[in-house]
Amino acid sequence: MASEERATPRWLDFLWLLFLGCMAVLPPLKEVHKQLILALIGVFQFAEGPFVRFLAGRGLRSPVRESLAVIIKLALATQLLIHTSDLGINSSYYPIFYLPVTTAAMYFGPVGTLLWTLTASGAYCSYLIPALQGEFTLTTGAKGELGLRIVFFFLVGMIVNRFVMIYRRQTLGYQTLAENLSEANRNLEKAQAEARRAERLAALGQLSAGLAHEIRNPLGVIKGSAELLNHRLSGSDEISRELSGYIYTEVNRVGSLVSRFLDFARPTSLDLRPRALAPVIEKALKYLNGQGHASKVKISCDFSPGLPEVMIDEEMCEQVFYNLLLNACQAMGEQGGELKIRTYAGSSENLRKNGGRAVVTEVEDTGPGIPPEMREQVFNPFVTTRKSGVGLGLAIVAKIVDAHGGTVRVVDGNGPGACFRVALPCANDGD
Ligand SMILES: Nc1ncnc2c1ncn2[C@@H]1O[C@H](COP(=O)(O)OP(=O)(O)OP(=O)(O)O)[C@@H](O)[C@H]1O
Ligand SMILES: [Mg+2]
Repeated sequence: MASEERATPRWLDFLWLLFLGCMAVLPPLKEVHKQLILALIGVFQFAEGPFVRFLAGRGLRSPVRESLAVIIKLALATQLLIHTSDLGINSSYYPIFYLPVTTAAMYFGPVGTLLWTLTASGAYCSYLIPALQGEFTLTTGAKGELGLRIVFFFLVGMIVNRFVMIYRRQTLGYQTLAENLSEANRNLEKAQAEARRAERLAALGQLSAGLAHEIRNPLGVIKGSAELLNHRLSGSDEISRELSGYIYTEVNRVGSLVSRFLDFARPTSLDLRPRALAPVIEKALKYLNGQGHASKVKISCDFSPGLPEVMIDEEMCEQVFYNLLLNACQAMGEQGGELKIRTYAGSSENLRKNGGRAVVTEVEDTGPGIPPEMREQVFNPFVTTRKSGVGLGLAIVAKIVDAHGGTVRVVDGNGPGACFRVALPCANDGD
């Protein structure tokens, strides 16, 4: 396998140049072709990187472009031997074959290096053909010498390749480490920013809760006075009655807003007890019906039999289901629709705590549904699309469910309507 970048330190190129310079001043000194080939080898040694990149830019794939570089060096080495002795096989410049061999060792893996060393050895041995046709005889000593030279080609190729492979592995390891570190760094920065934001929000929450608390008392006085005023003006003119009516209803609205906000802002202290969930849901349903919110809604309950008890604060959970059911009825509006409530034993993915055993409740309606990009946001305080909504219903739901160690989210239902899935921890686990 060829590597993308040749694993060569640049200073090694200068060593090669020094090596080539030494060869240039050694005999045969006046052989022009030899000097020319050495110069070409030197030039290619420097131009090799840009050459391979140029081929890559032309769409030539690895390992073809690296193989081309090795072939060029192999051709130049072969030519050098022809021009440095009458018989190429006798040339003392045969170590020039280390150049293509080490180049292959730097580009390829062990198998590639072996194949290219075999090719270089073949190119070197090819000089035997013209030599044997002449007066050259391959004595036993010459055979041994030739064999030794070829063995050294392999030895050098494999040693260089081994170091290059270690170098590549280390580089890859450092790269992965650096990527992991920068990812961890990014996460840390994000977490710090989140923590700062949470701190600011907590301070803001405390401030607004304090403010709401202070507003509640004067509101009570205004409400009482408006009630009295309304009573007193019952016999007077219509405009006065209408205006005092406005004061009364608006003060009532602000009063309930403040109370709901305080409900949300108050720290939740739970009175946890093992309870069956179905009666809690039924109680919420009864309250909803009692208030006339579900008059045009067909409600169906599918409670799985034999469900384990859940560890809950009954009153708080009643509020959770009341808020969800009320939202569903409000979403379906005047024309009404269908409301399906299912409970079943949940799997670990539904819950973080208590070994993942949970009782899951799904509340699904046939209203307009919640767009995917809003599914997380609806749990934030003051997110509302309803004209008379405050945007605290689901924030309270999320807060209570979180305090129970459960989860609540919007999931895909069977139809286009909204489907809320609440998972509450079972009573007999992890306590
Ligand atoms: N069943 C549902 N179908 C469609 N949209 C829903 C449903 N439940 C909640 N939503 C959307 O989520 C928003 C937030 O709901 P949430 O209960 O927090 O506030 P609200 O109902 O608008 O006001 P309130 O504080 O009076 O409950 C709603 O305004 C509505 O847009
Ligand atoms: Mg609501």
